[in-house]
Amino acid sequence: MRDRRYAHPFRDLRAKLREASSVCVLSGAGMSAESGIPTFRDAQTGLWANFDPMQLASEAGFRADPQRVWDWYQMRRDGVRQAAPHAGHVALARYAARHPGRLTILTQNVDDLHQRAAAQAGEGARIVALHGSILSDRWLDACPRDEDLMRRPCDPSRAEPGHPPRCPDCGNRLRPGVVWFGESLDYRDLTAAEEAASACDVMLVVGTSGTVWPAAGLAARARHAGAHVVILNTQASEIDDEAHIVLTGSAATLLPRLLDPL
Ligand code: OAD
Repeated sequence: MRDRRYAHPFRDLRAKLREASSVCVLSGAGMSAESGIPTFRDAQTGLWANFDPMQLASEAGFRADPQRVWDWYQMRRDGVRQAAPHAGHVALARYAARHPGRLTILTQNVDDLHQRAAAQAGEGARIVALHGSILSDRWLDACPRDEDLMRRPCDPSRAEPGHPPRCPDCGNRLRPGVVWFGESLDYRDLTAAEEAASACDVMLVVGTSGTVWPAAGLAARARHAGAHVVILNTQASEIDDEAHIVLTGSAATLLPRLLDPL
């Protein structure tokens, strides 16, 4: 969809971004693609084109074959650690640093590239990691000591190495700190995201297919609350109809063009 009311989309959008008091970015796997991290649904290279999400990204899949799932996440963690933020991450971080408190990044990505760009290029954005962090771990099952007010819950950092690591005291297993299929998002993160989407003047939806909810619904929420919604993607997405304008291109190309040096 290309809205013909915007004859000069970049000039008009740059003006909106300059004047906005609140801007949201909803990012997805396409945001990290140019850092070398594969997306999920791209036909050839997407993770879900080559792996079964129910085996590798669900609690049932983990319980069925914990080692397989753990090792797959270790491989992805290695990829994330080797990746670096690209020009699009840096443009967002610099924009946020120039306008502290203006930008909220709602990311579906479990890598830490937005956070690393902020550490390198400038703090200033609030970053909500809707689907958790692949670089963190948590217990698979509730710690039995949680029930006991007299004892501290077991510490995941003390887990004994393994595939997956286990608690030396109660045998609980570690799992990656991401949201799997069938699981709810953290209530506080979702609430923060909904509030930010409802309050922003401009929402940039970057590199998401718009197929996974509730994150995909944040674009509609922003639009219905009066925000100017812009999609940045190399291809059509499921939520293009929610946008006032769709810019076709890559995150590393379009974001600097929109944000440098506003
Ligand atoms: P998808 O893999 O579904 O979609 C990636 C999107 O990025 C597609 O629309 C591509 O066209 C676009 N894209 C690819 N390269 C790009 C680039 N360089 N610049 C801009 N856009 C580009 O990824 P998500 O929408 O993030 O969930 O998927 C949502 C969720 O599904 C993920 O968070 C993950 C997955 O299952 C969990 O892990 C819970």
